[in-house]
Amino acid sequence: MKSRVKATGIDKEHQEILLKVGQIPKHIAIIMDGNGRWAKKRGLPRIAGHHEGVNSVRDIVEVCGQLDVKYLTLFAFSKDNWSRPKKEVSLLMRLLLHAIRDERDKLHSNGVVLKTIGNISELPTAVQDELIEATEITKNNDGLILILALSYSGKSDITNAIKSISKKVADGKLDIEKIDDEIIKMNLSTKNYPDPDLLIRTSGEMRISNFLLWQIAYSEFYITNLLWPDFRRNALYQAIESFQSRERRFGMVSG
Ligand code: FPP
Repeated sequence: MKSRVKATGIDKEHQEILLKVGQIPKHIAIIMDGNGRWAKKRGLPRIAGHHEGVNSVRDIVEVCGQLDVKYLTLFAFSKDNWSRPKKEVSLLMRLLLHAIRDERDKLHSNGVVLKTIGNISELPTAVQDELIEATEITKNNDGLILILALSYSGKSDITNAIKSISKKVADGKLDIEKIDDEIIKMNLSTKNYPDPDLLIRTSGEMRISNFLLWQIAYSEFYITNLLWPDFRRNALYQAIESFQSRERRFGMVSG
């Protein structure tokens, strides 16, 4: 699928170069970091950084659609983020609710399929309702699959997989010797998606922060010092250029 919003001008040129030079990653995952620092640098409250971060989300989603990226996973709220000050958590939840409500129709008309991973039942009911509605409305689209990781933790994902596999073994439905990579993958919340080809982290931190752990075994990493609210389409083009310059060997030797 191609996004129904076509690139024009300099964007079109830039995108055509990327498409000509090499492969566009099929699945991009992003740790969106640095909203608070972006706000602090401007003497603004942290929530102003999160607000501006939503504008980056909008831009990146649009460009991923145009480039025919098939899956985009965004780490929007981690399990650990619940330990932030109550006020920030509630403002973030409100921002999320409004962002989904405001963007839903545009996402739908652009062919985006909205999905979530993480413990959605921990979110406020109003946010859950908004997510359920948006995922329902967009479920039959054929465009970019946008996966929001919310109240997500890579360790919990693996722990849950171990529990469900163990239950199958205990119930006699699975032979322990049959447990392999594929069975583990099929018990993770990401079972319907391929592993990310490219993992981007903004704000210069060299950490995974409990994001996708199993799934990034062979992902290419791209870390930029840009803060998330400053990460817009040109920064994504650079990340893809860097991805295209790598040789992915998946543990094998060069051809
Ligand atoms: C990290 O910056 C960012 C977050 C914890 C939240 C990211 C959420 C958004 C951009 C809004 C999500 C909206 C949609 C529609 C998906 P930080 O607060 O950790 O920044 P800091 O490290 O500079 O303090």
